[in-house]
Amino acid sequence: MLFLMDTTWDIEGIRSQYPALRDGTVYLDGAGGTQVPECVIEAISQAHRSGLSNVHGPFASSRRSDLLIAGAREAVADLVGGDAGGVILGPNMTTLTYRMAAALARTWAPGDEIVVSELDHDSNVRPWVQAAAAAGVMVRWARVDPLTTDLPAGQYAGLVTSRTRLVAVAAASNLIGTITDVAAISAIAHAAGALVYVDAVAAAPHFRLDMASMGADLIALSAYKWCGPHAGAVVAPVELLETLHPDKLEPSSGAVPERFELGTAGIANMAGITAAVDHLADLVAGGGSRRQRLDRSLAALEAREGALVPATISRLTGIPGVRMVGAPTRRTGTITVTVDYLTQGEVAARLGEQDICVWSGHAYAWELARALGIRDTGGAIRVSLAPYTAGSDLDRLVGALTTIVSGTPA
Ligand SMILES: Cc1ncc(COP(=O)(O)O)c(C=O)c1O
Repeated sequence: MLFLMDTTWDIEGIRSQYPALRDGTVYLDGAGGTQVPECVIEAISQAHRSGLSNVHGPFASSRRSDLLIAGAREAVADLVGGDAGGVILGPNMTTLTYRMAAALARTWAPGDEIVVSELDHDSNVRPWVQAAAAAGVMVRWARVDPLTTDLPAGQYAGLVTSRTRLVAVAAASNLIGTITDVAAISAIAHAAGALVYVDAVAAAPHFRLDMASMGADLIALSAYKWCGPHAGAVVAPVELLETLHPDKLEPSSGAVPERFELGTAGIANMAGITAAVDHLADLVAGGGSRRQRLDRSLAALEAREGALVPATISRLTGIPGVRMVGAPTRRTGTITVTVDYLTQGEVAARLGEQDICVWSGHAYAWELARALGIRDTGGAIRVSLAPYTAGSDLDRLVGALTTIVSGTPA
C-alpha cells in the first residue's frame, strides 16, 4: 500500500524520466546527491555529439560552447532570482567557496570580524575560518538552539558589529533539514554593512529561492543536489563581483564572472545544468516563463514534502529504538534519526544490502554534529527526499528498518 497517495504530483510520470530508478533501487540519499533525469543525460550527450571546442573561438563548435555556458548562467539565475551576468560556474560549491573566501578576504583588514554558523556544512565554515585566520580577522559563531535545533536569527544582533564584513549562513541544514530565517539574519547584517554569503546547497532542492527577498549578496549552489550534473555555482550581483579580484592566470579573462572561473569549464555539463533547471520548472504542468514555472513547480514540491515529512517521521519514530535527531520549526525534506543497539553505519549498511540508499554519519555538518552530541558516536541516519521519491520508497525504508530493529536485543 502506498505510504501517501499523490494527487497533484504525477509521481509515476516523474519517476519514468529517471533511468536509474528502473532497477528498483530506493534512493533516499538526495541530500548527498540526486539521480538525473533522461533530459539531463540527453542534454549532456547531445552537447558532446554536436561537437564542442574550447570557448571564444572563431568557429561553430566554440560558439556552441559559449552558448551552452551562457544558457547555464541564465538557468541558474532563474533558479535563484539572480543576474545571469553574476553567475560563477565551477566544479562544486566547496571549490567555489574557497575561491570566494580568498577573494573577499583581500578586502578585509586585521580587526575586522566575520560570523559563521554552527548549523552549516563545513564548506560554508572552514573556508571562511581559514581565510579569517590568514587575514587577522575575528570569527564569531552563531549557535543552534539545542532544544529546537533552529538557528535563532535574533542572536545575530549580538554577533554582528560595525567591524563585521561577512555573515556566512546556510539557507537549510544538510544534516537535519532546519530552514533558517535568512531574511532576518541578512537584515541585521546589512544594517551593519556586512555582506551575506548564503549556502543554498541543501535548500535549493526543496523550495524556491529568491536572492532579493532572502537578502543574499552571494548564494552558493550544487547542481548535483537538484537532479543536475556534478557542478557548482555562486551567484552575486555583477557590481559586487566587479569589486573583487581573485588570483587568476595572466592571460585568462579579467571579465566578470569569468575571472572567478579557473581553467576550462566542464562544458557539456553546462547543458545538463540548464536541462536540470528546466526539469525542475516542469515538475508540474503549466506554462509561463521559466521563473514562473519554477515558482509553481517548487511550491508544489515544497507542499508535497511538507505532507510526506510528518507522515514519514511519525512512521519512523513508531519503530522501537528509532529516535529523531533535530526538531526544527521549519524543515526541508531531510529527516535524521538514530537507531538504538546498532551503529548507524551498520544500519546504513544493512539498508544498503536491500538497495535502500541512505547515508550515515555527520554529513560534513561537523560543528552541528558535535553540538548535537552525535559526532563521536557514529552520527545519524539521514533520509532525504527528492522529486522522484515515491510513497513506496518510504514504505520499503520503514519495513526494512522495522525488520533490522526487530532482530536486535530489546
Ligand atoms: C549544505 C551543503 N553545503 C555545501 C556542500 C558542498 O557541496 P559540494 O559537494 O558541491 O562542494 C554540501 C554537500 O553535501 C552541502 O550539503
